[in-house]
Amino acid sequence: MNDVTIVRAIHVIAVVLWIGGVGMVTTVLLPAVRQFKSAEDRVAFFERLERRFAWQARGTTLVTGASGFFMVQRLDLWPQFGSGQYWYLDAMVAVWVLFTFMLFVAEPLFLDRWFAVQARRDPNRIFSIIQRLHWVLLVLSLITVGGAVAGAHGLSLFG
Ligand code: HEM
Repeated sequence: MNDVTIVRAIHVIAVVLWIGGVGMVTTVLLPAVRQFKSAEDRVAFFERLERRFAWQARGTTLVTGASGFFMVQRLDLWPQFGSGQYWYLDAMVAVWVLFTFMLFVAEPLFLDRWFAVQARRDPNRIFSIIQRLHWVLLVLSLITVGGAVAGAHGLSLFG
């Protein structure tokens, strides 16, 4: 079981870096960027920072997914998916799929280009949409973190 403990620690470190970064972008960076007077500065600064963070998020997403599936296999948790008591397993995979889609499919394929065009057209509207979206992702992620720690340590909410 030592291998599971080590992988669990790696899993949590990756989650901390990743969701911590989402928290920083949502609660500090986006509100600060929205105060910039010039729309061009706002877009340029946000694009530069978000691009850097996107690489960190891609790396930590990969590590989280690999370590997570390793634990599912080693602990033989496949049958628990879809059962109320282990809802946090479904929540973890759902959050992971959502971010993986955004970071590896939507952003490179169309979201970056769409943002660049919209941000030049109506920066106030687009930044408010982005901030709301980040809040939704952050809240879902934090509920999942809380549920995963509580569930993995024996708290059963349903079933
Ligand atoms: C493919 C995606 C993922 C898989 C397959 C996965 C799988 C797992 C498994 C099997 C455990 C151990 C559960 C247990 O011992 O009952 C775990 C723990 C945990 N996971 Fe995930 N996970 C994934 C993504 C995530 C995400 C996205 C988050 C955060 C939003 C997350 C946060 C955590 C936390 C905080 C723990 C608890 C560690 C502890 O206190 O023991 N995981 N994960």
